[in-house]
Amino acid sequence: MTKILVIGSCGQIGTELVLALRTKFGNQAVVAADLRDTCPEILQDGPYIKLDALDREQVRAYVIEQKIEQVYLLAALLSATAEKNPDFAWKLNMEGLFTILDLAKEGYLKKIFWPSSIAVFGPTTPADQTPQHTVMEPTTVYGISKQAGERWCEYYHNKFGVDVRSIRYPGLISYKSLPGGGTTDYAVDIFYKAKSEGKFTCFLSADTALPMMFMDDAIRGTIELMEAPAEKIKIRSAYNLAGCSFTPAELAQEIQALQPGFEINYAPDFRQAIADSWPNSIDDSHASKDWGWKAHFDTKAMVKVMLENVGL
Ligand code: NAD
Ligand code: SER
Repeated sequence: MTKILVIGSCGQIGTELVLALRTKFGNQAVVAADLRDTCPEILQDGPYIKLDALDREQVRAYVIEQKIEQVYLLAALLSATAEKNPDFAWKLNMEGLFTILDLAKEGYLKKIFWPSSIAVFGPTTPADQTPQHTVMEPTTVYGISKQAGERWCEYYHNKFGVDVRSIRYPGLISYKSLPGGGTTDYAVDIFYKAKSEGKFTCFLSADTALPMMFMDDAIRGTIELMEAPAEKIKIRSAYNLAGCSFTPAELAQEIQALQPGFEINYAPDFRQAIADSWPNSIDDSHASKDWGWKAHFDTKAMVKVMLENVGL
């Protein structure tokens, strides 16, 4: 049995990733780990431990003693929260990564997944169909940490043969778990407000296009990347991955098509500058060519599923 540890398992991605990994590998094979004292109900079908990604010795001891073979390291501060606490964001987003990379370098771990983000790009990056390899000058502490993380992942692969894999996730949209402090969170909140109040005030302007993805695609893509034969993984920094791309006004229109009368207003805040520095859309042809990635959900399909499931 391959033993898998998911650190940061109670968050937006971790919740759904643990469920999907348990469906694939069995409940007992996938240990959920997070800072909480107790396991959330949704993850109670398998093992849970309280684990601090910043406690290097605790993480090392657990991985070695439990003979963990794969780690998905999800613990991080996201873009908006990181701007409010840059020192801690840098610490959290980098230190846990080194602990895991070192465990793999020493032969304890066979495979690592560590997520990057569209935040690695910046205002000097070509914004439309942003290529895999291009100018990357991120202007947020979150983006700087993700870009540095990518470089270290590639370095550990090239120098020490570490099998590390990564995706530059776009903004992720889900209904089983809530987002945790990102600039793309509006695209989840809007569905809750549409259902509960019939109106929404957006913290980004009407015409701010951003790359987004429905969570089902993100989880499937993550597991497909991790299951692909090593020789197919040509990029050891992080793969561009595209789902759909829209502005708040376009998203509101799709919601109005299914929920007439829904209203949207705009009150941009500090997150506008972050969004303005990120791409509008992403070219994911390398992921398609190397390991067969293809998104299943466009904006319309995602909106339908979200409106059907949010708040149930
Ligand atoms: P989240 O904020 O929803 O969840 C993070 C989880 O990590 C939380 O449950 C939190 O309690 C836990 N955590 C925080 N500090 C910890 C620590 N010291 N030890 C153990 N656990 C700790 O984040 P998410 O949206 O699930 O994102 C997961 C990863 O994916 C992050 O690296 C993030 O940068 C990346 N990512 C997310 C998105 C997105 O849209 N959600 C997009 C791009 C990249
Ligand atoms: N959804 C993330 C954020 O907004 C992108 O990495 O921070």
